[in-house]
Amino acid sequence: MPTLLIVGSQWGDEGKGKIVDMISREADVVARYQGGSNAGHTVVDGDKKYILHLIPSGILHPNCQCLIGGGVVVDPQALTKEIQDLEKLGFEVAPRLFISDCAHIVLPYHRLLDAAQEKLRGKGKIGTTGRGIGCAYGDKATRCGLRLGDLRNEKKLRAKIEALESFYKPLFEKVHHIEVPDADKVAADLLQYARILRPMLVDGPAWINRKLDQGRKVLIEGAQGILLDIDHGTYPFVTSSNPSPGGVCSGLGIGPKRINRIAGVAKAYTTRVGEGPMPSEFEPEFAEKVRKEGNEYGATTGRPRRCGWFDAPAVRRSILVAGIEEIMLTKLDVLDPLEKVRIGTRYRINGKEMEVFPTDLAPETPVEVVYEELPGWKTPTSACKTYEELPANARRYIERIEAVLGLPVSVVSVSADRSGTIVRTPGFF
Ligand code: GDP
Ligand code: IMO
Ligand code: MG
Repeated sequence: MPTLLIVGSQWGDEGKGKIVDMISREADVVARYQGGSNAGHTVVDGDKKYILHLIPSGILHPNCQCLIGGGVVVDPQALTKEIQDLEKLGFEVAPRLFISDCAHIVLPYHRLLDAAQEKLRGKGKIGTTGRGIGCAYGDKATRCGLRLGDLRNEKKLRAKIEALESFYKPLFEKVHHIEVPDADKVAADLLQYARILRPMLVDGPAWINRKLDQGRKVLIEGAQGILLDIDHGTYPFVTSSNPSPGGVCSGLGIGPKRINRIAGVAKAYTTRVGEGPMPSEFEPEFAEKVRKEGNEYGATTGRPRRCGWFDAPAVRRSILVAGIEEIMLTKLDVLDPLEKVRIGTRYRINGKEMEVFPTDLAPETPVEVVYEELPGWKTPTSACKTYEELPANARRYIERIEAVLGLPVSVVSVSADRSGTIVRTPGFF
């Protein structure tokens, strides 16, 4: 039962989509376990670009079956559109996509409430993607959410939506001064999507455990990043699920011993979308330069991403809580033009040295990042096919990251394209 878990080891957008796509060539199954349409996973193949939000990136490979696990919150409108868009492009989705009937539904109430709450937070906003994610997980936790399995029974579905509407009506109208969506319309829309989604519903844990028992190669795709984990990230500036491995077990319904290999994807520098602490963030002018070079704009919202140097204490927090055993390093090429490159090795906070990102860092707390400076390589790397072909200073940079983190860098990505990937030790399963 070979399984490989790919998690983001920074604040999301590390290039998980590209890495998962590459490994999918060897996989039988690709499974998502958490998050929702807040994710944006990009795959570039020549002049074609695909951005996946809810569907696992393995869908682009005809050999792969894909599972959306029960820990994911599914916006039926977004998912239906994603399925139809891929089918229009010639990908066979319906027979290869399976969805756990326990996955909760993101409803219009959640999207509206997400926006209203952000507005209310004012300066203290989180900078969410506005996809209703936190509110859908909120209803799940307070036990009033709807699950995809509810799409099977129209009468029950209507009753649940009506209950939810009466629950939300005073909150929407009296607190947020917005109109509550009409229950009949919400139900009618859901029933439209149900026609497409219902045939894909399965008992998720039974489905995936059977695949594992059959010895299928299962690739598990994390969304977001460990530093956005609701328990282990930079709370409250986090998402509302667990990208960390606990989320795999609860989100797919598999035992922890089923996870064989855990890889953390990291950019060769750092980015973050939304608010929250980011100690190694660049000054605005340099950030703009790197943002342009790395095309650092959110795949879901198009927002400019904040950029900074590689932050080892942040990645160490991810290694610690996620049990990451290897790093897959992406976007090395973005650093190609730089004269000098830096690695943040530790923090000084109120005179105290710290190797690992603290659990309670407020955005306003002054952090002195201790940097190690290395010479740049000033040579294009995107055409390099082997590790040895990389410029000596680029290898030196990677090897410093390995030393500073105490982990091997098993994959180096040097361009957005599928072809721009150096695999140091072949064979992922
Ligand atoms: P994900 O959410 O972790 O899947 O990452 P995103 O797709 O949101 O963001 C990563 C961005 O970097 C996408 O635009 C990718 O096409 C791009 N990308 C991935 N790897 C590389 C790389 O090695 N070099 C360059 N230049 N771009 C990359
Ligand atoms: P992928 O899978 C980067 C961020 C948002 C915000 C916070 C909470 O593409 O790496 P939410 O909408 O989840 O309530 O927003 O989390 N965020 C992401 N940042 N990549 C993502 O996904 C993200 N998903 C959520 O910007 O700061
Ligand atoms: Mg992304």
